[in-house]
Amino acid sequence: MANRRLAPASEQPAAFAFSSENADWAKGQIEKYPEGRQASAVIPLLWKAQEQNGGWLPQKAIEAVADELGMPHIRVLEVATFYTMFALEPVGKFWIQLCGTVPCDSCGARGLKDYLHHRLGAPGHVSADGNFSWLEVECLGACCNAPMAQINQDYYEDLTPDLLGKLMDDLAAGRPVKIGSQVGRTSSEPLGGADTLTDATLFDGSRVGAWRKRFEQKDEENEAGKAEAASSEQRAASDPKPARPDAGRAVGTSATDAPAQRAAAGETPVKAGDKVDAADRTESTAQPNKSAPAAPETIAKAEAAGAEAGTQSALPRNEPPPQPVNSGASADAPAPASAPHPSDPKKGN
Ligand code: FES
Repeated sequence: MANRRLAPASEQPAAFAFSSENADWAKGQIEKYPEGRQASAVIPLLWKAQEQNGGWLPQKAIEAVADELGMPHIRVLEVATFYTMFALEPVGKFWIQLCGTVPCDSCGARGLKDYLHHRLGAPGHVSADGNFSWLEVECLGACCNAPMAQINQDYYEDLTPDLLGKLMDDLAAGRPVKIGSQVGRTSSEPLGGADTLTDATLFDGSRVGAWRKRFEQKDEENEAGKAEAASSEQRAASDPKPARPDAGRAVGTSATDAPAQRAAAGETPVKAGDKVDAADRTESTAQPNKSAPAAPETIAKAEAAGAEAGTQSALPRNEPPPQPVNSGASADAPAPASAPHPSDPKKGN
């Protein structure tokens, strides 16, 4: 980073005043700010003063700006010495501000600095032909295309010592130069071209058109569906068909043979393991009095069949349900008096 000092007295002009055109321009800038905030115009006024003075700010210009804005001279001097965009010493026709901050440094700014040292000498001095002067500055905000330099108002990026040398030759000779990346990349896209969002339909409008087409197609389909439904209703109204209750539906059947319904009707449920013979079942289903208690022989047979099958499901429904046996309970533990085991005839009712 270069020292920020005013130019020696020998190079300072005796006076500075804005031209009438620039004075009008400065007035317009000051009027942008509310009363009492005119100091906010200090940067544009310093910039215009530098431009008028051939690219650098003499002490008298700094003081003139301070007077214009009603600021102490020292306050405007602080601003002018803080920002490297203000040159405090005379500059060449092409003023090179070379970025030396870390991203540019990592990408080769030191090679550029060496080149400028070699070609122009120390920073802050104007070349013998008056064309160039240079200064190392902090980040100029184009790190993605590092290393870079600002020459007068323009950025030149992706520089190498060779490219910088050619650029300086062209500027000195008055040949046209390319602003921005010197290796052909567009804006700050990757070297070698963009590798994302490369689908051309994203940008030519055809993708938007495709969506629109699909929506319109859907609308047409909806309209066609509505028309078909309307014509079906009309046909049904003008040519009604005889009613067929079971047409197109599952036919409801009496599920009297379902186990749950048989049980509800007082029949003995039959399970796969039951040994109750078909005759008993037939006899049971033939009972007209469904609420009559089961005969003792039927209970005995059902218990025997349940015991053999490992279940107690053959008991008639008018018997109390069996109580669950607690797992882990002692086999000797007595059953609760309120819930006798149905297989115990002494305790059952
Ligand atoms: S570091 Fe050089 S432009 Fe940001």
